[in-house]
Amino acid sequence: MKRNLLITGGAGFIGSHVVRLFVNKYPDYRIVNLDKLTYAGNLANLKDVEDKPNYRFVKADICDFEKMREVLREHEIDGIIHLAAESHVDRSIKDPFTFARTNVLGTLSLLQAAREYWESLPEGYEGKRFYHISTDEVYGALELTNPEGVEPPFSTTASSKEHHLAYGKDFFYEDTKYNPHSPYSASKASSDHFVRAFHDTYGMPTIVTNCSNNYGPYQFPEKLIPLFINNIRHGKPLPVYGKGENVRDWLYVEDHARTIDLIFHKGRVADTYNIGGFNEWKNIDLIKVLIKTVDRQLGNPEGHSLGLITYVTDRKGHDMRYAIDSTKLQKELGWEPSLQFEEGIEKTVKWYLENQEWMDHVTSGDYLRYYEDMYKEK
Ligand code: NAD
Ligand code: TYD
Repeated sequence: MKRNLLITGGAGFIGSHVVRLFVNKYPDYRIVNLDKLTYAGNLANLKDVEDKPNYRFVKADICDFEKMREVLREHEIDGIIHLAAESHVDRSIKDPFTFARTNVLGTLSLLQAAREYWESLPEGYEGKRFYHISTDEVYGALELTNPEGVEPPFSTTASSKEHHLAYGKDFFYEDTKYNPHSPYSASKASSDHFVRAFHDTYGMPTIVTNCSNNYGPYQFPEKLIPLFINNIRHGKPLPVYGKGENVRDWLYVEDHARTIDLIFHKGRVADTYNIGGFNEWKNIDLIKVLIKTVDRQLGNPEGHSLGLITYVTDRKGHDMRYAIDSTKLQKELGWEPSLQFEEGIEKTVKWYLENQEWMDHVTSGDYLRYYEDMYKEK
């Protein structure tokens, strides 16, 4: 079957994996990657697919409503996978307006353009899909009931749910009440509401998924894992916010991309799915695993880089624990994460160490000074 898909934010971290997967897996689909190329967007992430006949790139801002109308009509778009967003919590604390603009108004602009175009066609919304990629952070924060004494769960699978309850009493479910705390999560929550409102009001066939923290190749090094791998490599301090006890639930990015493919094709319209692999880690435990892995891969003696750990002032409003329950996705669509965490971390560290040129390219700007006034050593 032929389709014309618009993937927004395809030059970013997750978007580039989604674009690569769709371009390679569906030669009959025309994939239009629309991206503004902010500091986080990088076409070098897609070098391997840029010459494929079923791939197009359009540089545009999703807030530009006229441009969205034009692109949808020109490429006769029948499916949208919407990832374009401002995505970093620390930036949202410094500059919340940009997050409201792109994440809320940009999403609305795309929704409205899609509505106008699809409603103008004889078949209307039939065969159409607006798939919005969201985050578990919209649910707020869970309590951490056992900050001490839990050994890192080094071998984690989707079936190890009980093990992870050790970090707290509960998970985020699809019907957990939205309770965002950061400007980032508030803007994503607002965009999720708009997407659902377009289904409820106009009948647009929408889907929303809320995924846990992703890790893997091509992530901009202001996020924990790539930043710390790079700093360990260069012997630079590792700024741990607060006590390092916050818990995040990590999923390998290619697993997320594969899930987006599954849900885009098989997910129920107007529904929501949580995506996560029951893989919770306290930041400090994860950081120690990263240090161990980077040191080993660089041939350093064990413990060589432990001294780089530097506790700094905590992030304002720092959410304590995120933990996704993805049982619905597993039961309804037979989903499972493909990668064990130790394998994912091993691959990720290897990729960053082997792609220093990519790292140098994306760190050549002055973003490292962006947070200087926010996080001081304690
Ligand atoms: P990213 O910051 O790496 O990439 C975002 C992309 O969007 C960049 O290519 C950027 O240039 C583009 N963009 C930003 N503003 C734009 C605008 N106004 N118009 C067009 N393009 C614009 O983000 P990511 O980590 O790949 O996240 C992608 C999506 O997934 C986001 O919606 C995010 O909320 C969601 N998400 C991320 C995670 C995660 O752990 N990274 C987890 C769950 C959900
Ligand atoms: P991050 O990668 O920014 O993702 P998110 O805030 O969306 O979860 O951060 C992951 C965790 O690591 C979070 O608890 C904040 C913490 N962190 C640090 O301790 N130091 C850092 O330099 C960064 C970037 C994050």
